Amino acid sequence: MKKLKTIYFIFILTVIQGNISHSETGYKVWLRYQAIDDKELSADYLKYCSIIYQAGSSDILSSSANELKSGLKEMLGAEPVISTSTNINSIIIGTIDKIPSSIYKIPDSQARSLNQEGYIIKNTGKHIIITAKNEVGVLYGTFHLLRLMQMKEPVADIDLLENPKVKLRLLNHWDNPGKIPEERTNIERGYAGISIFKWEELPEINKRYIDYARILSSVGINGAVINNVNTAKKGLEGWKLLTPEYLPKLKALASVFRNYGIKLYISVNFFSPVLISGTDDADPLNPKVQEWWRNKVVEIYSEIPDFGGFLVKADSEGEPGPIKYGRTQAEGANLLANALKPFGGLLMWRAFVYGDKELSPDRACQAYQVFKPLDGAFAENALVQIKNGPIDFQVREPVSPLFGAMPKTNQLLEMQITQEYTGQDKHVCYLVPEWKEILDFDTYAKGNNSMVSRIIDGSLFGYKYSGIAGVSNIGDDQNWTGHLLAQANLYGFGRLAWNPDLSIGQITDEWILQTFGNNEKIHSVLNSILLTSWETYENYTSPLGCGLMCSRNDRDESHFYPAPSKRVDYHKADKNGVGYDRTIATGSGYTNQYFEPVKSEYEDLSTCPDELLLFLHHVPYTYKLKSGKTVIQHIYDSHNEGVEQVLKYQAQWQSLKGLIDDERFEHVKNKLIQQEGYAREWRDSINSYFLDMSGIEDTYKLTNIK
Ligand code: GCU
Repeated sequence: MKKLKTIYFIFILTVIQGNISHSETGYKVWLRYQAIDDKELSADYLKYCSIIYQAGSSDILSSSANELKSGLKEMLGAEPVISTSTNINSIIIGTIDKIPSSIYKIPDSQARSLNQEGYIIKNTGKHIIITAKNEVGVLYGTFHLLRLMQMKEPVADIDLLENPKVKLRLLNHWDNPGKIPEERTNIERGYAGISIFKWEELPEINKRYIDYARILSSVGINGAVINNVNTAKKGLEGWKLLTPEYLPKLKALASVFRNYGIKLYISVNFFSPVLISGTDDADPLNPKVQEWWRNKVVEIYSEIPDFGGFLVKADSEGEPGPIKYGRTQAEGANLLANALKPFGGLLMWRAFVYGDKELSPDRACQAYQVFKPLDGAFAENALVQIKNGPIDFQVREPVSPLFGAMPKTNQLLEMQITQEYTGQDKHVCYLVPEWKEILDFDTYAKGNNSMVSRIIDGSLFGYKYSGIAGVSNIGDDQNWTGHLLAQANLYGFGRLAWNPDLSIGQITDEWILQTFGNNEKIHSVLNSILLTSWETYENYTSPLGCGLMCSRNDRDESHFYPAPSKRVDYHKADKNGVGYDRTIATGSGYTNQYFEPVKSEYEDLSTCPDELLLFLHHVPYTYKLKSGKTVIQHIYDSHNEGVEQVLKYQAQWQSLKGLIDDERFEHVKNKLIQQEGYAREWRDSINSYFLDMSGIEDTYKLTNIK
C-alpha cells in the first residue's frame, strides 16, 4: 500500500511538473525565452553567451546578470557562468567607467551622445559589451539584447546606441489599497483580477513584485504610481498610504522597484492634512498646511530616498482640491511641489476637471479653460497631466487642445492602457495605432512639426520634466491583463513611451515574435487581428467620433454595454440629425481652442475629418461624408462591418489550432466568441436607435447579415 502511495505521489508530481513546464498561461508575457531551435543561430549566440563578465557590482547590475542568466539558460539550454576573467569570449555588462579599456574603449563621441538612461551594445568579435553611463542603462541594454535573441536576430555585428526619447515613462495604477467599500472595486476600471499589491502582506515581498518590475523594466517604464487617483471618494482608503502604517510597505515595494530602475510614486488626497491629522483646513496658503506637507515628505524620503513623488486628482469627480479655499489649481499643485522639491520629487497634477458651473456647459472645453490661463504659474517640479482627449478615453476623440497650449508648464500625456471604454477584457482592441495617432498629431503650437510627441519628449518647449503616463491594465490574473492579447497594449505603451517615433509595425512585430514565436502563419493572423481591432471596435460601437454611447451601469458592468438613449448629452441625436456642435460659429466654441490650421480644419464642415465629424458638428442624417455615403448609412454599414470583422477574426484564429499551445489558443478563441455576442448587441442597439431616431431605413438589407 505504501509503495502504491509513493508511485502515485511520483506520478502526481510528474504531472504537476509537466504542466508547469509546458503550460502557457501567459504569465511570462513577452519574456518567454523559448528554446532556440535553429542550431546554427544558437551556436552563434553561444559563442558569446556562455560566460558573463560583470564589471562592477550593484543591485541593478545583478538584475541584469540574473536576467541574462535565466533568459540565456532557457533559450540556449545552459546557464551562463559568471566569470572574473575577460580573456575569454563573453558578454560584458557594466557602466562605461568600469569596462576595462584593454577590452574596448567606447569612443568619446558615443559616450557623449548617451543620455542618463541610454546604452550601447557592441560586439567586438570576442565580446558583446552592454554599457551605459548609469547602471539602469545597462539593464535596458540587457533587455534589448534578450529581445533581439528572442526575435532570433543575428548579434554578430551588433553595434547600437539607444536613448529613451521621453524622460518620464510611467504606469498609473488605479488600485485601491485598504478596505474596499461596497460598490467599489479593488481596482477601479481593472479587468484582470484584483490588485497585485497585497497590502495586508506587505512589507513581505512576493515573487510577483519582482516579475512585475522585470516586465515594466523590459519595456523601459521607469516609474509606477501604485494607487488610484481616487483616494477618498465614497469611502476609499488610498489616502491612508500617507499614514505611518503604510510607510514600511511602500519602502518594501520601492526596494524591489529600485533594482529595476523604477521609481515609486503614490496618488495622494489634497485634503490629507485634514484626513490624517485633523487640521482645520487644507488651504495651500496656510503655513500650517505647508508645514504639514513638508514634514510628511521628509518622513517619506527618510525611508525611501529615491521616492518619485505624488500624483493628484483635485477638484474632480468628488476628489477635493484648492477651489474650496478660493485658490487656483497652480496654487494647489505648488503646495505639494514645494514640499517635494528639496528631495528632487515631482508633483503630477491632473487636468481632468469638469463640471464647474462657471465654465462652458460643454465638458470638452473645460480643462483648457481652467488650465491655459495658469500657464507659467506651476512650480518647476510640477507637471500637468492631461488625458489624450478632452472627454474621457473614448474610442475616438480629438487630441486635447491643452497640448501645446502651455509652453511654460511641464506636461505629461495620460493614456489608458486598461480598456475601460474599449472593450475591457472582453474585446480585443489593440490601442497602439490610436496612441500613435495621438503622438503624431501636429498641434501647430510652434508652427509645423509641433507634434504631441515633441511636447511630451520636452523638445518643443524645452520642458525640464515631461513624459507619458498609462493607466495600467495589470491585475493578479495569471496572465496579468485579463485578455491575453491585451498584453500587447502594455508592451506597446512601454515601447512608445520609450520612443514615440517607433512604428506600429515594429512594435507589433516585436510583441508577436516574443509572445508567440516566429511562425509565419501565426504572425500574419495576429498582425491582421491586432492592426484592425481598434477600427473594428469603433465600427460596432461609437460612430464618427460620437463619443460616449455606453451605459453608466448595466448588468454589473460599467461603461461596457450600449445605452445610446442615455447619452444624448454627448451625441445630441434628434429627429433631424446627430452630433455635438462645437464650432465657433454656431456651437460651443471648442474648435477655437486649437491652433491654426487645425482650428479652421475642424471648424469647417467641408474639411473636418469624417472620423471626428460628430464630435465637432451637428449634421442631418442625410449629410454626405467624404466617402460618398450618408451619415446614417455609414452608421448602419460600419456597425454591420464591425460584426463581420469579429467573425473573420474567429475564422482566422481557428486556423491557428495546433500551432499555438492549447491553453492560449482556447483562451483567445473563447474571448473572440464572447466578443461576437457583445458586438452584435452593440450593433443592434445602435442601429435600431438611429433607425428610430431618423426614420430612415438601412438600405443594406438586414437579411444579408449573419
Ligand atoms: C473616468 C473613469 C473613472 C476615473 C476617472 C479619472 O471617468 O470612469 O473611474 O476615476 O476617469 O480619470 O479620474
